[in-house]
Amino acid sequence: MSITDKTISQPKPGIASQPAAAISLFPPDFLWGAATSAYQIEGAVHEDGRAPSVWDHFAATPGTTYQGQTGEVAADHYHRIAEDVALMARLNLGAYRFSLSWPRILPQGTGAVNERGLDFYDRLVDHLLARNIRPIATLYHWDLPMTLQDRGGWLSRDTAYAFADYAEAVARRLGDRIDLWLTHNEPWCTAYLGYALGIHAPGLRDKQLAVNVGHHVLLSHGLAVPRLRTHLSPQAQVGIAVDFYPVYAADNRPETLYAVKQADTFRNRWFLDPLFRGCYPDDLFTAMGVLSPAIQDDDFSVISTPIDFLGVNYYSRMLVRGCVDGTGAPNDRYETIGHISGSSYTETGWEVFPAGLANILIRIHREYAPKAMIVTESGAAFDDVWDGNDGVHDQKRIDYLQEHIQTVARVVQQGVPVKGYIVWSLLDNFEWAEGYCKRFGLVYVDYPTQRRIVKDSGLWYASFVSSQQAKPD
Ligand code: FCB
Repeated sequence: MSITDKTISQPKPGIASQPAAAISLFPPDFLWGAATSAYQIEGAVHEDGRAPSVWDHFAATPGTTYQGQTGEVAADHYHRIAEDVALMARLNLGAYRFSLSWPRILPQGTGAVNERGLDFYDRLVDHLLARNIRPIATLYHWDLPMTLQDRGGWLSRDTAYAFADYAEAVARRLGDRIDLWLTHNEPWCTAYLGYALGIHAPGLRDKQLAVNVGHHVLLSHGLAVPRLRTHLSPQAQVGIAVDFYPVYAADNRPETLYAVKQADTFRNRWFLDPLFRGCYPDDLFTAMGVLSPAIQDDDFSVISTPIDFLGVNYYSRMLVRGCVDGTGAPNDRYETIGHISGSSYTETGWEVFPAGLANILIRIHREYAPKAMIVTESGAAFDDVWDGNDGVHDQKRIDYLQEHIQTVARVVQQGVPVKGYIVWSLLDNFEWAEGYCKRFGLVYVDYPTQRRIVKDSGLWYASFVSSQQAKPD
């Protein structure tokens, strides 16, 4: 893949007084898209045979989400496919990343397929293809069928086999039209937020459970890859989306350098090493104070089944400072610096740090060499205000996107095989435990009326993407 070093100035339709930013031209086949996930946008939780997921159950439990909000209605996308796909076309998206709801498709988690659940995604895919938008399907974005949770959820090895069956059922129906697939979204979050920190479904708080879950999630990925491929075209590509936080040192004391290594192992290598090296990092479990999960003979060869691309989700970095124990030796505990003077932060409290995206892409390329990478999530929540007419003036999000895209351009120019950039998110949506108070969309959603208003960032992105589609001289 070649890239020219031509730069272009970005027009900003309808947006006054903005500095024109120059962004390098990307290769013509670079994918520009936006992402969502099923529980965060669909609503319609009781329709067409869908059964409850762990998130329906978790969000209905008092004290788990902001103001007790749930995904029951969300952005009502289930009833608005045509309108939402038309919006994607207006944004000039070349790709749309969405997830499928397992409890719509297999309400019991296993067994009989609910064809009406698949019908919904079938229609969505046809709408996308009619507009030349490439679907990127994620099979698991955290909404496990409750029936499986009742049988142990991801703590049960059986769930890994159930996932592979589910993956095959989806591919059998949609594999003729979708050629980019992700098995899981952010296994670290499934395992750690759900089973150690308890801030996501199913809300458990035990690190040992989290590593056991992580292993079954990895296994399910490896089991699903060949089952998917049975029903896909030879050109189709299968991957997994992993979330990364590059770790930086707050000072250069030896204990801090030790802490950087520890934090990186825990936050970035826990899932990367098994996927690409077929083993867990040596000191992962001892540093976490847990035992290794139960690993069967073939597990690592299944987990490290070659994939076609790695999805990289990036939001921010970690800055850490080490601690010493009573003897002055580096301690396994370290401090994460929450506020860095001079840095700016998004509404979720995440530091804006575009250089971290380059750092992680280059590092993954050097150390793990995936065949290709797609930035499957990048974006920010800001305090967007709708003016009541057609405007949401979110300059901070435009700046955020420009800076991150510029960073990706530099990485691509260095020869790192990054093939796409997908904004989180297409629409404002149910931001898990944060409910609806955090808005990530390129498109604003007025929840009482479900009216969609394209934000200035959406207009900017549309214009940027179209400039990339223009033929280089
Ligand atoms: C990611 C999730 C996505 C969304 C963004 C803000 O970790 O994959 O669903 O919540 O964060």
